[in-house]
Amino acid sequence: MQYYSMYEIIDKKKNGHELSKEELKWVIDSLMNKSIHEYQMTALLMAMFIKGLNKKETAWLTDAMLYSGKTLSFDGKNVVDKHSTGGVGDKASFILAPIAAACGVKVPMIAGRGLGHTGGTIDKVESIPGFKTNLPLSEFKRLLDEKGVALIGQTKEIAPADKIIYSLRDVTATVDSIPLITASIMSKKLAEGANGIVMDIKLGSGAFMKNKTEARRLAKSILDTAKRFDRKAVALITNMAQPLGNKVGNAMEIVESIQTLKNEGPKDLTDLSLALAANMIHVGGVESSYSKAMKAAKSALKSGDAYRCFIDIIKEQGGDTSYIKDPSKLPQTKLTKEIKAPKAGYIKSMKTDEIGLLLTELGGGRKTKTDKVDFAVGFDFHKKVGEKIKEGDTIFTVHHNKNQADKVDQIEQRFFKDVLKVAKTKVERPSIIIEKLEQ
Ligand code: URA
Repeated sequence: MQYYSMYEIIDKKKNGHELSKEELKWVIDSLMNKSIHEYQMTALLMAMFIKGLNKKETAWLTDAMLYSGKTLSFDGKNVVDKHSTGGVGDKASFILAPIAAACGVKVPMIAGRGLGHTGGTIDKVESIPGFKTNLPLSEFKRLLDEKGVALIGQTKEIAPADKIIYSLRDVTATVDSIPLITASIMSKKLAEGANGIVMDIKLGSGAFMKNKTEARRLAKSILDTAKRFDRKAVALITNMAQPLGNKVGNAMEIVESIQTLKNEGPKDLTDLSLALAANMIHVGGVESSYSKAMKAAKSALKSGDAYRCFIDIIKEQGGDTSYIKDPSKLPQTKLTKEIKAPKAGYIKSMKTDEIGLLLTELGGGRKTKTDKVDFAVGFDFHKKVGEKIKEGDTIFTVHHNKNQADKVDQIEQRFFKDVLKVAKTKVERPSIIIEKLEQ
């Protein structure tokens, strides 16, 4: 392998020049075999953050990261994954994966834990006793081949360079870079063997992307990179200016997912899950048009096929299915407190990232890497943006443990001070899907 100088590569990017495919590959290989230092990598990441990467560089970086570990491959274009950029109350994966799988899509899900104010799919599903999220890749592949769906946590084997780079970005203010986010997401999706990708780009106060221009730029960057790797992809920009669904909290979100799989869930969550699943069915070539795909998705939900598929996944991965059949067995707190509206009006907005942080305060998320998550605590929203409220109406219920009365009081104060805005005049109810972008 040709030798490059890390000093010269950092200097080149610092001065805004294009890095070559070979240089980017050398950087990632050297990071993996520890022949460059993490402080040098961090300097390069900051130069990339400031000067950007063009489309070619983004694809070359993705390629180098993708081959830093093992790669899976599957025959057929019906292997489609969904990736969400993260939000509050986002449990759509538990609904859309069984819907898509029941319609003939293979769904290889490698999901994450909570990050910042956002919740993690893996933390939520671990509230089901016995469910294993650390299956070896061979078992992941077997389940996918035989059952059409498997859900595991991030593994060291898939795109390990991303793990190192992500942890450096996390502590050096270089997370919110569109090319770096693109390479991070796409290297993992391509390594896990997805032949099609449906992106859920969250937009709003509970998302990492707070404005539409940035959300569109990220969507276009991902669609373009997918095209360079000959993968079909679609991106939906969706509303994260309030929690998705009504429940926020690990086990409570599993309960709401089960309700939604029984077609008894909240409208925003049902509509989003159906739209993402329908796009997966269409991208995977199972149906020839989006409208046919949507019809199939609705029918899988209504017939109970998706619910049965969910039970099957839980069983296959060691989970106790009696908790799905009787969700009241899932972890729940003994105490609740209703938080009531101090004045009448219409709910105008909710600062949703704060809601995620309030959950962490209650123990439902981590403050440090080693914190144990309390599966039972959470919030149940009874009123959402656009709804009329009278003085004394319950806006949400806090599910908490004993000895948390002071915390609940603080949550109530912070909710009215920092989170909720109430208008005197009528407010439109927001739609869940804001925009769809295609290649
Ligand atoms: N999610 C990822 O997987 N990577 C990023 O860089 C940001 C969000």
